Amino acid sequence: MHVALLANLKKNAPTWVGMSPDYWDDLDSEETINAISAALESGGHQVTFVEGDVTLYDRLRELRPDICFNITEGHFGDSREAQVPAMLEMLRIPYTGSRLLTLALSLDKPMTKRVLSYHSLPTPPFQVFERLDEVLDPEMQFPLFVKPSREGTGMGITAESVVYDMGQLLRQLRQLFERYDQPVLAERFIEGREITVGMVGNLSSPVAWRLPDDEEARRISRGLHFFPPLEVDMTRYPAEEAGVYTNRIKTVLAHEFYYLCPAPLTEDQVEELNWLAAATFRVTGCFDVARVDFRLDANDNDKPYILEINPLPGLNPEYSDLAIEAQADGWSYDVLVNRILDEAIERQEVTGEMTTPLMP
Ligand SMILES: Nc1ncnc2c1ncn2[C@@H]1O[C@H](COP(=O)(O)OP(=O)(O)OP(=O)(O)O)[C@@H](O)[C@H]1O
Ligand SMILES: [Mg+2]
Repeated sequence: MHVALLANLKKNAPTWVGMSPDYWDDLDSEETINAISAALESGGHQVTFVEGDVTLYDRLRELRPDICFNITEGHFGDSREAQVPAMLEMLRIPYTGSRLLTLALSLDKPMTKRVLSYHSLPTPPFQVFERLDEVLDPEMQFPLFVKPSREGTGMGITAESVVYDMGQLLRQLRQLFERYDQPVLAERFIEGREITVGMVGNLSSPVAWRLPDDEEARRISRGLHFFPPLEVDMTRYPAEEAGVYTNRIKTVLAHEFYYLCPAPLTEDQVEELNWLAAATFRVTGCFDVARVDFRLDANDNDKPYILEINPLPGLNPEYSDLAIEAQADGWSYDVLVNRILDEAIERQEVTGEMTTPLMP
């Protein structure tokens, strides 16, 4: 098939005077794009890379791909990851991965947490700040963890994200408002192990925004393949990172990633994490692939807390969590990438013969 690989390359992103140096840290490198292209070609596909910017609409009408492999993060706006999929739906071109509502939802951590809380899924208690003079909810006990509401790749996350008193909270809020110009999320700080669970596939029952009742609980994850969980080995990073999976670890130190995969967990623990990951995948309406990040509360018998779901998990062949997890499961990178595509092809019944004509 003719696959258009859609991404936002870091090197193509706009720059301006005074822009924060981490502004485009969640965009992709050429290394990743080349690896995905090669993987898809090894699967027998013809691949064209197209930058996911404002020229995309015209380019796609010319190219008329059978399907798009979408990993665009978008440039601007609070639902930026949903912009390219919106364009693809207007053009009626099938694409890999989750759809608009899910991508907009998951980019917004507080919104995701509201959905998780509604379904009684464990996520740390939280408060969203839009202004410096907002009163801290008396139920929010220090230490708190403070982060931007709508960023990824650890942007805005440093050792100082853990705050122990009002003064530190205010300093962190001020800094994040200034730098990221968006609401700031303060959560209960979960001290403990750092685990991430990757999945490829789809739920066998239709994705619905409710959890099944108990008898059905196991059934919902059929069709989803769980990779062995990965634990970030925080003990091996410099003490300055304070046990936090920071932006520095995810960017500057990305090539010296310390992890344990499969994470040393009991079978029961893995089963519980997989169930929570599947439930999160379901209630946020994901398709084809996702990664759910957890912390296990060291002060409460390693109780798992869901930090977020990433429906566009990083796909760097060397150091992205998902690629490492797949490899630990005996899947090569090529198999991983082609499986994501195949899931999308099957789900949308893409035949390679354009059945839905492009809009004029
Ligand atoms: N409530 C919390 N308690 C303890 N640590 C936290 C908490 N929230 C976030 N962290 C730490 O910050 C890291 C990044 O948080 P989170 O996954 O929410 O951000 P992100 O930048 O979106 O990550 P990603 O790179 O996966 O997109 C976590 O992996 C964890 O180390
Ligand atoms: Mg994360």
